[in-house]
Amino acid sequence: MSAMDTPQRDAPDSTMLFGFWYRAAASDQIPRNGLHKAILLEIPLVIGRDAKGIPFALRDACPHRGMPLSCGRFDGSQVECSYHGWRFDAHTGQCQFIPSLTVGQNFKCDRIYAGSYACEEHDDFIWVFVPELPPLGAGFTKAADTPFDAPRVPIFTEPYKTAYLSAELPCSVDHGIIGLMDPAHGPFVHQAWWWRSRQSIHEKKKNFEPIPNGFRMSAHTPSSNSAPYKLLRLYADADSITTTIDFVLPNLRFETIRAGKYWFSSLTTVTPIARDHSRIDVVAAWNIFRWIPFSAALLKFVFAKFVEQDRQTMEDQAEGLKHNPHLMLIDDADRPAKWYFQLKAAHLEALRNGADMKHPMTGPVTLKWRS
Ligand code: FES
Ligand SMILES: [Fe+2]
Repeated sequence: MSAMDTPQRDAPDSTMLFGFWYRAAASDQIPRNGLHKAILLEIPLVIGRDAKGIPFALRDACPHRGMPLSCGRFDGSQVECSYHGWRFDAHTGQCQFIPSLTVGQNFKCDRIYAGSYACEEHDDFIWVFVPELPPLGAGFTKAADTPFDAPRVPIFTEPYKTAYLSAELPCSVDHGIIGLMDPAHGPFVHQAWWWRSRQSIHEKKKNFEPIPNGFRMSAHTPSSNSAPYKLLRLYADADSITTTIDFVLPNLRFETIRAGKYWFSSLTTVTPIARDHSRIDVVAAWNIFRWIPFSAALLKFVFAKFVEQDRQTMEDQAEGLKHNPHLMLIDDADRPAKWYFQLKAAHLEALRNGADMKHPMTGPVTLKWRS
């Protein structure tokens, strides 16, 4: 039997990948001098920004007796625990002061750290690096070094506009990601009178190629059902429009559409919060201003509709998944999902044996499906 005849039974294991940057919170949710709770990969974090506006992320547990630091006070440079008043530098997590110590008790408080995480802020989000070995809650560890920079939305010319959108997903990161790359749900989930109907389903053929840590749907004329394409077509030649979609571990989907001097680009992520809870964030950037169809409000409306349809679908699916059904991935429509699981497994295997990651794709592949 060929792979076409044997649907692969596959149950996502919801393994969360450490050692990567993740979007922790939208920038506009984090005011100066406040403390904001966030969870990434089941790690409780407290996020804030100092008096200069620079963000920080600490483990939300005091190294003394575990009180969430988010219950404490922040003066713009130090976080003070609400229980016994220990104070920590917001950026390094280093303990600065223990109020209960008397003169002559020369306990070295600067050896104590509240776990601190590397932070970067760009494209409307605060990103946090979640290392392989998390800093210990009650410990003496400094923040891990970051081996690479946080991902960015590709930008082609200045000036440009951006907009973002987020939605909580009541499912594991795996279901969120395969939903993101699943071409076959479009005609069923994303119906709208102004958009497309079930009848618009037609056969498609797309070329894919391996890229480091992921795969690319090679540059092609976008599907006539793709949202930005419908908008771009209003002022560019249909066949001058090309799109490229990349998926890169652990959770990044880049989509770039170019039409002459115009471009539209987005970076969508599905971030693991807990085993059965994730969040989808889309940040889009574009350089088209004069035309009403590309106003941020309209774009947000179109994307919000899509994201809401996906979110509702995943909420319904979560009901079904509670009962542990058998799951399957079929060729070719589910092949990107299979690559995702294979990439994840290859990444974990490379970590285990310290070797280079063995990419599951050996070369370009053409996939066909109807959607
Ligand atoms: S628990 Fe934080 S100071 Fe004691
Ligand atoms: Fe979708």
